[in-house]
Amino acid sequence: MSRKIVAAGNWKMNKDPFEAISFLKEMGPLVKGKDEDVDVIFCVPFIDILPAIDSVKGTNIKIGAQNMYFEENGAYTGEVSPGMLKSAGVTHVIIGHSERREYFSESDITVNKKVKKAIEHKLTPIICCGETLEQREQGITIDFIRQQIKIAFLEVSKDDAKDTIIAYEPIWAIGTGKTATTEQAEEVCGAIRKTIEELYDTDTAQAIRILYGGSCNEKNAKELFAQEDIDGGLVGGASLKKEFAQIVEAGQ
Ligand code: PGA
Repeated sequence: MSRKIVAAGNWKMNKDPFEAISFLKEMGPLVKGKDEDVDVIFCVPFIDILPAIDSVKGTNIKIGAQNMYFEENGAYTGEVSPGMLKSAGVTHVIIGHSERREYFSESDITVNKKVKKAIEHKLTPIICCGETLEQREQGITIDFIRQQIKIAFLEVSKDDAKDTIIAYEPIWAIGTGKTATTEQAEEVCGAIRKTIEELYDTDTAQAIRILYGGSCNEKNAKELFAQEDIDGGLVGGASLKKEFAQIVEAGQ
């Protein structure tokens, strides 16, 4: 089965609204045409969402968020609801990025709540998982990732599961310039697909898209995306630069 490649940028806490506008206006022509073969998504800071959506009009680039809360509205100072994202025109939302887990105490349980809420609002969750260096050295990577995936998908139906996106991001490879080898990345992405098959069935496992993230760039993207179980990348640092267009091209 051929799955459409995803090139998703995660800007993290970078680019103010003015920088977002000028960057995306420049990016539009650079990925023109390619954004038909590849799903191109920029997950931007909340404050950039509206100007970003305006800046990509007339292109196939989609705008995503980097987080959301799992309640509809109410007294949750500082939070943003899935309904707000949807009404702004957001299509995708990153859930459970390792930086959210590490600095903002997100757990597998809150990830599961957010995944279910995103789906309810017809936002595509990009569900992150990944092991620490210590876990890799202990040889428990696959067990740990399987656990993260099983909890993230609790009470998610088969039909909903197949439209989600999973991002495997080894924590030791994020922002370090140290990419997992193609074999390491493929091994874990394959294990994730197997886990989805166990939870649901072969069709669901074959439909779901699994991305690699962690120092993915214009040099290594082609080889990574060519792997059987890797369907694109979640890209941090390299999504802030024009070279991101070459990552999109690598997915064609
Ligand atoms: P990086 O970040 O590409 O800068 O390593 C990836 C991510 O955290 O999504």
